[in-house]
Amino acid sequence: MCGIIGYTTRKNNSVEVALSGLKNLEYRGYDSSGIAFFDGEKMDIIKSKGKISNLDDKLSNFNTNSCCAIAHTRWATHGEPNETNAHPHQVGKVTLVHNGIIENYSVLKDELLKNGYTFKSETDTEVAAAYLDYCYSKTQDKLQALVDACKAFRGSYAFDVVYEDEPTTIYATRKDSPLVIGYSHDGNFAASDISAILNYTNKYSLIEEGEFVKVTKDIVTFYNKDLHEIEKKSETATWDAAQYQKNGYEHFMLKEIYEQPKAISDIFNRYYTNCSYKDLDFSKFDKIHIVACGSAMHASLVGKYLLQTYGKIPVMVEIASEYRYSEELITPSTLLIVVSQSGETADTLAALRLAKEKGAYVVGIVNAVGSTIAREVDKCIYTYAGPEIAVATTKGYTSQVAVFSTLALMAMEQKGLLDKNIEKLIKNDMLNIEEKINSVISNREKYLEIANQIYKHNDLFFIGRGIDSTVCMEGSLKLKEISYMHSESYSAGELKHGTISLIDKGTPVISIATDEKLFEKTVSNIKETKARGSFSIFVTTENHIDNCDEFADEVIILPKATDFTEPILTVIALQLVAYETAKLRGCDIDKPRNLAKSVTVE
Ligand code: F6R
Repeated sequence: MCGIIGYTTRKNNSVEVALSGLKNLEYRGYDSSGIAFFDGEKMDIIKSKGKISNLDDKLSNFNTNSCCAIAHTRWATHGEPNETNAHPHQVGKVTLVHNGIIENYSVLKDELLKNGYTFKSETDTEVAAAYLDYCYSKTQDKLQALVDACKAFRGSYAFDVVYEDEPTTIYATRKDSPLVIGYSHDGNFAASDISAILNYTNKYSLIEEGEFVKVTKDIVTFYNKDLHEIEKKSETATWDAAQYQKNGYEHFMLKEIYEQPKAISDIFNRYYTNCSYKDLDFSKFDKIHIVACGSAMHASLVGKYLLQTYGKIPVMVEIASEYRYSEELITPSTLLIVVSQSGETADTLAALRLAKEKGAYVVGIVNAVGSTIAREVDKCIYTYAGPEIAVATTKGYTSQVAVFSTLALMAMEQKGLLDKNIEKLIKNDMLNIEEKINSVISNREKYLEIANQIYKHNDLFFIGRGIDSTVCMEGSLKLKEISYMHSESYSAGELKHGTISLIDKGTPVISIATDEKLFEKTVSNIKETKARGSFSIFVTTENHIDNCDEFADEVIILPKATDFTEPILTVIALQLVAYETAKLRGCDIDKPRNLAKSVTVE
């Protein structure tokens, strides 16, 4: 989704710094970019469709010495990606960049048209710029104009604004979109997230909803919604700029896949040594809802399986954008667990706010420290997997699964369901996870061999039962989002109720059977596809490989583990198959088309 950065400085390098910040925001997903900078007389605006390098090339034709700049990466919502729709937008005395959506923009536009404003773009943001200019023309007070405009806006926003008559000051505010203020030796920032400023500073402050900020090169002043000055603590980011580099890996996705052994073993080690959420008492709640989007929702399905099967607690998993339609099920005795890597996903945030309104207790499983979801939940369980830059999540997903494994273990303990032998088995499994993940990752040749067999196909199916069927969903999503192959995930037993008609000679079917109890049934379903000519790729554990030549053309062999860690091992193999396939298809692996890392609109 859109990323913004504003920088005002004692030096003349605001364009260079803002551009380097934009590059660090690339991971959020975008299709055009733009920058406005003070040239000593006025704000110059340069925009470009496509990659930031296009903007960079264009800028090389200009004198970009400037002490104040605001810049933007746009992920199109209102109007196609082109230069006219790209930000910054300038209307009257106002130049601004915006992350979010002004939902009532067409009503405001009508009002503005009646007052003589005209529009060049199709965007809601140009309307926001015009509306702010309209408010400023009435009050002649920059902060008050921003307050008045924000009162009229419905939707989400993080704004960096520069007024023509004060061109080295950035005014900023936010609602439902993230914004941080950064402090450096040479100047100050207002940006979507810390990654944008980490090359220059690790000192920052978070802006709460409805607060306003005036940022000059020397001083930053914070205001509440009534424009009373407020004090803000400065914080120090623990993530450093090096974590935002590929560090020799060909892609961020690959780097993040290789970071999983440590990220996951850290979660299990923390659980056994210094667990911050052991006080969560499941008996206080009559039901658990888990709500998330995309891969985080897939991780939630693994969580549901573990909590139900082992903790004997009934769980409902809901896609965040659909949760409001289950509103009547939310009560004060509901435990809602929201799961989000970015901590900024608008649908998940809306679900959490709804549940809080209804009196539910909300726990978050979140990766991004200090993110909106992390701050708004009653209790936050951080995954601490470090920054995830590739749009397709890998360590984000597995670290969520790892936290769910520990929650299921806690539920078993609390209910007296954990006998000494099982406890020992699971502990041993969790504390040896690093070695097992490394052995899965080291099988790269096999994943490449499989990718070579499937990359020219247009359709592919994943099948599995029980916990394996939840991993199928994630494997399928990974493949389709980065390789653009059509892929579907089906419960193995469900395929014959319709979808099997799509299996033809050579159609690749990836089947997962790691669960002892369900092995034979899954194998029967694989044979059904094989009888229709499928190319069968079988994913199983080392104890299950006898006689699989009968129904498997390729086999991925995983280390045997308990259900508490097996899904992690399985999905990592599938992440690597997706990665190698996308590479053979020549796709932009870290930034797949149309996708955004941080989905801050509903
Ligand atoms: C897929 C992917 C998305 C996210 C989803 C939720 O690879 O990354 O499906 O899982 O958009 O994002 P978060 O976890 O940030 O709430």
